[in-house]
Amino acid sequence: MHNIQDILEARDFIMSKTDDRPVIGLILGSGLGTLADEIKNAVVIPYSTIPHFAKSEAIGHANEFVIGELNGKVVAAMKGRFHYYEGYTLDEVTFPVRVMKALGIEKVIITNACGAVNTNFIPGDLMLITDHLNLVGTNPLIGPNNEELGTRFPDLSNVYNMELRTLANKVASKLDITLKQGVYAWLSGPTYETPAEIRMSRTLGADAVGMSTVPEAIVAIHGGMNVLGISCLTNMASGILDQPLNHDEVIDVAGKVKVKFVDLIKGVLEEI
Ligand code: 6GU
Repeated sequence: MHNIQDILEARDFIMSKTDDRPVIGLILGSGLGTLADEIKNAVVIPYSTIPHFAKSEAIGHANEFVIGELNGKVVAAMKGRFHYYEGYTLDEVTFPVRVMKALGIEKVIITNACGAVNTNFIPGDLMLITDHLNLVGTNPLIGPNNEELGTRFPDLSNVYNMELRTLANKVASKLDITLKQGVYAWLSGPTYETPAEIRMSRTLGADAVGMSTVPEAIVAIHGGMNVLGISCLTNMASGILDQPLNHDEVIDVAGKVKVKFVDLIKGVLEEI
């Protein structure tokens, strides 16, 4: 379990590499990392060099913090994230969010590629996350609570900040980008779900399923940060279409949606 000292060591290391003081954190999902390439005067910090960071190995992800200016805001972007299915503990998965908070970041935009459960959605849609279902049966805050980081029993009534959601909707309509809305269900992976699990998820209220985002959002809320969640629906979930799922398709569709996704996030940054 990481302690405050670990968080501060990671923060101090990052601060020693740049004079920029980021105000917004970006966690970029599979195939969506190109947004980080648009950051101006970027300082790139590989995770492997940051004290107490784990290394990410997922296909379609780089493994670096990119700090610099994007549409008038100083941001710290995570190009690649740690997933539970890779074998990292949830403490490792969420450690970068603690470091973001220690850097002074109060708002974090969490993105992902995910599967559509709601049959009104189509691959290539973007979805504003309105709420989540934690279907993994564990929680990143399990363990002793450090009151300096946050409260023992955090309220999750408003994980995905209403003001940021309103702003995202406004930006989307201004840019003529269709932004669906819905509930994101977190499943561990690394398997995609069975058709029965997707029917179950739908019955439980899920509009999309994915393997990330929820642990980071919970820790951000624990730390008192505001969260905006944006999903890229890369495929219909299992059993909806008569075709198997594969990771290449996920990366391929995320790549095609990238332009829309980048425009939306940049628009949000401008107005945030
Ligand atoms: Cl269908 N399921 C999960 N868990 N993650 C995904 C996905 C599906 N499609 C992209 N990511």
